[in-house]
Amino acid sequence: MRTDTSQTIYRNDYTPPSYLVETVELGFDLDPARTIVANRMTMRRNPGSKRAGIELHGENIELVALRMNGKLLGKRDYRIDGRLLRIPNTPDDVTLEIETLTAPEKNTTLSGLYVSNGNFFTQCEAEGFRSITFFPDRPDVMAKFTVMLRADKEKYPVLLSNGNLVEEGELGDGRHFALWEDPFKKPSYLFALVAARLVCQEERFRLKDGRDALLQVWVEEGNLDKTDYAMQSLKNSIRWDEERFGLELDLDRFMIVAVGDFNMGAMENKGLNIFNTKFVLANPRVATDVDYAGIEAVVGHEYFHNWTGNRVTCRDWFQLSLKEGLTVFRDQEFSADMIGTDSGRAVTRIDQVRTLRQAQFPEDAGPMAHPVRPDSFVEINNFYTVTVYEKGAEVVRMIQTLVGREGFRKGMDLYFERHDGQAVTCDDFRAAMADANGRDLNQFERWYSQAGTPVVGAVGRYDAEAKTFDLTLSQSCPPTPGQTDKLPFHIPVAVGLLGADGNDMQLGQGGLKGATAVLELTEQSQTFSFTGVLEAPTPSMLRDFSAPVVLEYAYTDDELLHLFSHDSDPVNRWEAGQRLAMARLSRLAGALANGGKLDLDDTFIDAMRKILVDATLDPAFREQALLLPSETMIAEKMGVVNPQAIHAARQFVRACIGACLRAELTSQYHANLTPGQYSPDALSAGRRGLKNLALSYLAAAPDADGVNLAQAQFDGADNMTDRVAALVALIQARADAAPAALHDFYQDFKNEALVIDKWFSMQAAAPDTDVKAVRALMQHSAFNLKNPNRARSLVFSFCGGNPAQFHAIDGSGYAFWAEQVIALDAINPQVASRLARSMDRWRRYAPALQLNMKKALQQVASLKKLSNDVREVVSKALAN
Ligand code: TRP
Ligand code: ZN
Repeated sequence: MRTDTSQTIYRNDYTPPSYLVETVELGFDLDPARTIVANRMTMRRNPGSKRAGIELHGENIELVALRMNGKLLGKRDYRIDGRLLRIPNTPDDVTLEIETLTAPEKNTTLSGLYVSNGNFFTQCEAEGFRSITFFPDRPDVMAKFTVMLRADKEKYPVLLSNGNLVEEGELGDGRHFALWEDPFKKPSYLFALVAARLVCQEERFRLKDGRDALLQVWVEEGNLDKTDYAMQSLKNSIRWDEERFGLELDLDRFMIVAVGDFNMGAMENKGLNIFNTKFVLANPRVATDVDYAGIEAVVGHEYFHNWTGNRVTCRDWFQLSLKEGLTVFRDQEFSADMIGTDSGRAVTRIDQVRTLRQAQFPEDAGPMAHPVRPDSFVEINNFYTVTVYEKGAEVVRMIQTLVGREGFRKGMDLYFERHDGQAVTCDDFRAAMADANGRDLNQFERWYSQAGTPVVGAVGRYDAEAKTFDLTLSQSCPPTPGQTDKLPFHIPVAVGLLGADGNDMQLGQGGLKGATAVLELTEQSQTFSFTGVLEAPTPSMLRDFSAPVVLEYAYTDDELLHLFSHDSDPVNRWEAGQRLAMARLSRLAGALANGGKLDLDDTFIDAMRKILVDATLDPAFREQALLLPSETMIAEKMGVVNPQAIHAARQFVRACIGACLRAELTSQYHANLTPGQYSPDALSAGRRGLKNLALSYLAAAPDADGVNLAQAQFDGADNMTDRVAALVALIQARADAAPAALHDFYQDFKNEALVIDKWFSMQAAAPDTDVKAVRALMQHSAFNLKNPNRARSLVFSFCGGNPAQFHAIDGSGYAFWAEQVIALDAINPQVASRLARSMDRWRRYAPALQLNMKKALQQVASLKKLSNDVREVVSKALAN
């Protein structure tokens, strides 16, 4: 725990390292209580640096001995101040030998070297390597690593590290060793080791250049029946990167290891990816369609990092989106290509838009708002955000929209030609894209430097005589912390014009091609003229969500209904439905907050009915189109947030849909059953998705039919998707049968940790679960605050996923939040800090709630003993 070192780091303060590291030889004598780490590194003065001496980072480790060029250094030869070890007078070429001690079993932070279920794992990104040994722990120091592991053979039969296994053998005294060598230079954050009792599924896979690579998925014994999908996803990822980007696996061996205690999703350590079990383990009995999709995406994501992140890495952590935004974009494209159909692609795109609106737009509008390439931070772990990842991916996608798919590939090729083996910046990436395509992307840089979600206003004017349609687009961007005035962005706005018949007009005139034109909005306001427009069009703007902005256009209901029925762009078709729903939900929430009466128009219900029964549309698309905006998304649209009113409004609409469309929902339920063996493919998953959404609406209706259907599905389910959907329907409908179903579910799956996580999270999000009920669940023998997945499943699901209860008027939710943030901070600051973020938007609530929220924030902020992670979040939340 650090209390006195909280300090802001600025991007503009970057200076190159004083020394470069050529080789690192690490020796580990692994023992949970007392691990000895020997580090021998050869270093060379950096000709590009003006600074003298050697600077090494080190935290939570005990220095045993330090030798420079063979000579033992005494206390006066170096200084340790805080977390830096400085050796002032150093020759040009230096060999340092450093011996340190650490206690992995005491490490609850899950950063550095730690023990999980008796096994050793490491997590070094971003700055975990410095709690393994003293080292210039910054991504622009890239070195060749050799790693010797020694451990008890009985307890830790498997010894893994990056690269290739060079040698292994016995040591006597029950211990054994393994020597690993990584042929590629890498930054320290990509180092990894595993020493464990694990088993693997493995196979040889033929690469495009004819080499065979050994692929392995390592899990605990008993989980070998859940590794197929991860292995298949890995093979698909390798193939896809060969085909789409010409990028090959550069190692003879590629390993994925699953661990139950992990702070994030997974980690791209060179050749040795370490994964949260949640993103590896799956079979139909325990995993849902969403879990399967998550595994495919995350396996792809980590694999794609091998080029975008590892071969070319970040110069400093401000450039994090260089690897993350680009790699998210790549995993999104991979998932879309794996489905293959246009409509499947659109469904993945809709999911991405939902994530942005649900999580990134609020971040961009809150106290932690930061540019895709931040200018400063206190704790880098707080900047692994939806802005850096998902908005970063949107920024990369916009480049592809501007230069085209082929142009984008040319830019990627040039990027690797220029920067393979280097640590570079977001500007370097942008330059490669610009240079490969002869495009000016200077103004585009503002997407990296300016925070906040731009608002694009649109006004259309049709001139019947001249047969022209003028579309005036204007842009603005609200102020964000530290950035009051924004300059105009370079925004690609994809536009189509629909005729009265619902078809796209051909935008032949004015140099525009086909049905969709990509307009480039670069000024504060611009007018684009379409000529030869024979009738007044309905504009479909921001097709495929061509930019991460809020689009404001005064659509009439009739125009939205027209788009909802006909738009050839499925994303905008969906969008029209969301706008129709949002208008009603915010009106109802407003009415409820002021004691008004509730009603829902037939127009809306009819529009929903039409989509629901339209068999020409993919079930997956229909599911998306019928899914209402979440409570969080509704809250973002309201002036003053009243969570209980929002919840009641959404429930009311759900019940109306269930009652009014009962016949159609029931027939779609039966039409979309997926008999036979379970398969997670997109078509089957889409059918289950639509069927289960129909079930949830039916169960929300006042009559008992839906609940009975849910009970029957729960009893007869042969896969986790259907089982969970039925259970959620029972719980959300407050069905009498829900407690017994929950009881049975627990009994059936008590040995499956990932399923028990679902069991907790379903209850945390239940309408009747208040703070008291959450506290009771925390007393359950299966609850464990130290395990991040478990903490997320209960505490986070309640604080973030049950707004109506979390924001209880008496402030009990906030007091609970403060208590849990504080408890978690003593265990694991990274996880605590994520929970701390659930209060970001406190200023938007009614005054009475605000007061209690502020009190809770102040209570946390007032603690003397608080991590940098949590302190940064709560102090930014409280700042003006
Ligand atoms: N680089 C990882 C990814 O995007 C993220 C990650 C995994 C991470 N574990 C972490 C980031 C711990 C910070 C701390 O796939
Ligand atoms: Zn990543």
